Amino acid sequence: LNTFTYAQKTAEAPAISEKTLNSILEKNRTYYTQGKVADYIPELGKMDAKAIAFSVVDKNGKVYNTGDVSKKFTMQSISKIIALMIAVTERGEANVFDKMGYFGSDKPFNHFSNLETTGKPLNPMMNAGAILTTSLISGDGDKPFLKVLDMVRFITKNPTIEYSKSVYESEKATGHRNRGMFYLMKNNGLISGNEDQLDNYFRQCSIELTAEDLAKIGYFFANQCVRFDGDTTYKNAEIAKLIESQMLTAGMYEFSGEYSRTVGLPSKSGVGGGITVSVPGKMGIGVFSPSLDQHGNSLAGYHMILDMVKQFGLSIF
Ligand code: DON
Repeated sequence: LNTFTYAQKTAEAPAISEKTLNSILEKNRTYYTQGKVADYIPELGKMDAKAIAFSVVDKNGKVYNTGDVSKKFTMQSISKIIALMIAVTERGEANVFDKMGYFGSDKPFNHFSNLETTGKPLNPMMNAGAILTTSLISGDGDKPFLKVLDMVRFITKNPTIEYSKSVYESEKATGHRNRGMFYLMKNNGLISGNEDQLDNYFRQCSIELTAEDLAKIGYFFANQCVRFDGDTTYKNAEIAKLIESQMLTAGMYEFSGEYSRTVGLPSKSGVGGGITVSVPGKMGIGVFSPSLDQHGNSLAGYHMILDMVKQFGLSIF
């Protein structure tokens, strides 16, 4: 614990600039050497471990970028917050959370809890709960996936966003554990459809975007689902609170508790190397570096966020 580092508010927060972001990025660039690119999905293993990007959208919707900001990567688990927003909008929160818990994560993202005990997933941020969430979005075939894709395009105002067919196929070909969870939940009476629904989960994980897109997603949930340019089409303070609370308690998997202590902001990671961060009522942060720690969270990404939070006094606590 003597090496413990945490975010402490500084008296005077400096102004955000690309120069400040760049110095934070450079300070943390070499963290990639201490982690590992995810290769349990073969296609993900091809990512450039040295790529790194850092993006912030401030309270006024102004974008600041540094690093490999045009580099695309798959959003992976970050798609879970978008699917949750859609499922809850369609069915209501009580209906969705009758089938899964609000519990924090103390287990890896692909853990089966609590499917063998209570019969229900712990939360919508672990794979089981996320697979179930996507299956709760209405529509046949790939319609639920297309809703997730459209929402990502809307929030980022980026209609060019697509999914990576090769990553999707790689996930589908190797995702036996996810398939196991899908059938266990079907056995438990939580899922009624066929494997198309699991495919939608694999597809949504394969949506490709940039760190800037992630910063805009962070901004959206930080600001009651108002888009960075002020568009209020989906404005909803309750849904934003729900998503942010899940991000805080389970968004970084079993690291979520320690992350809350050190960073203190609702955040969601994905094994593609991205993390989206919401600074409630204020800004959005998006980071990318594909080298991961043992929990599946971007290592350099975490350290960039930590430095940003320290410099600007952003922790909610
Ligand atoms: O279900 C999977 O294995 C992946 N497609 C998504 C997992 C993920 O991103 C977990 N993240 N940290």
